[in-house]
Amino acid sequence: MPRTHVGFRPTPDARAALDSLPGEVTTSHDPSGQERAALLADVAGCDAVVTLLTQRVDKELLDAAGPGLRVVANVAVGHDNIDLDACRQRNVIVTTTPGVLDQATADLAFALALATARRVVEADAFIRAGNAWTWSPDLFVGLDVTGATLGIVGFGRIGQQVARRAAAFDMRVLATPSRSGAAAATELGVETMPLDRLLGESDIVSLHCPLTPETRHLIGAEEFALMKPEAILVNTARGPIVDEAALAAALIAGQIGGAGLDVFEHEPDIHHDLVGRPDVVLLPHIGSAGRRTRLRMLELALDNVRAVLAGETPPTPV
Ligand code: GLV
Repeated sequence: MPRTHVGFRPTPDARAALDSLPGEVTTSHDPSGQERAALLADVAGCDAVVTLLTQRVDKELLDAAGPGLRVVANVAVGHDNIDLDACRQRNVIVTTTPGVLDQATADLAFALALATARRVVEADAFIRAGNAWTWSPDLFVGLDVTGATLGIVGFGRIGQQVARRAAAFDMRVLATPSRSGAAAATELGVETMPLDRLLGESDIVSLHCPLTPETRHLIGAEEFALMKPEAILVNTARGPIVDEAALAAALIAGQIGGAGLDVFEHEPDIHHDLVGRPDVVLLPHIGSAGRRTRLRMLELALDNVRAVLAGETPPTPV
């Protein structure tokens, strides 16, 4: 009888999806699955493990699971937490959850762009602090989003959804070139160009590339120097794509105008210079945190497990 361990505590609405798995299913008592020792103990003897992006799937975990492990189903579109080579060497299939979170993540990228550009969080804090105010021509004046130029770095599924939203804001949309995004760029009237030109022309730069060795610190001091002084950086992708110390320095120096961040270089720690800044909006990695989206992510992860356990090709392997 196959055994699947879910490395976190699923929400009650996921019960039906869990019950549909064959064999024995165990779940962590810990909602966020952050107790490493418990995870290593729980995966012992499993055929399938369902993981979160915060859980390292490395040789240690694969050893702890043992030779019967057939699939690691990550409940995330990213897989930078997984040692793919180690999985390959042990014939462990790795799956992720692409597609089902594109809309929610694009929504949040737009929420961050709007909140940062129009100083929503700063203005809210001003009211809650009990400040006296009256309508005034220069009160919390920010960047106009409608009509602005949006630069999308990484024109994959999520980047394309961001471009669709930008159309409703009459934005000029730029993107770094990608083979898979070429048809969508033509359809949506998106101009593709190299990163340095995109950075120089954009009012808002939104990151949507995966974290790989090539994209680590893709945006650093040199890139901030190319951006407009009023430009806003939005990151809903992965923190280490941005050199966070260089970002803080660029904001302090007035090289760029603000940042809307859902992800951080050393999550959950955040660079101390960013925390006190009013021109930065900070969110705790909630890009896909829509109720329906989160359920669909788990369901897709379990579909992958079910397929592998049945000896079939899973729907979304890496
Ligand atoms: C979220 O960050 C994901 O990779 O799904």
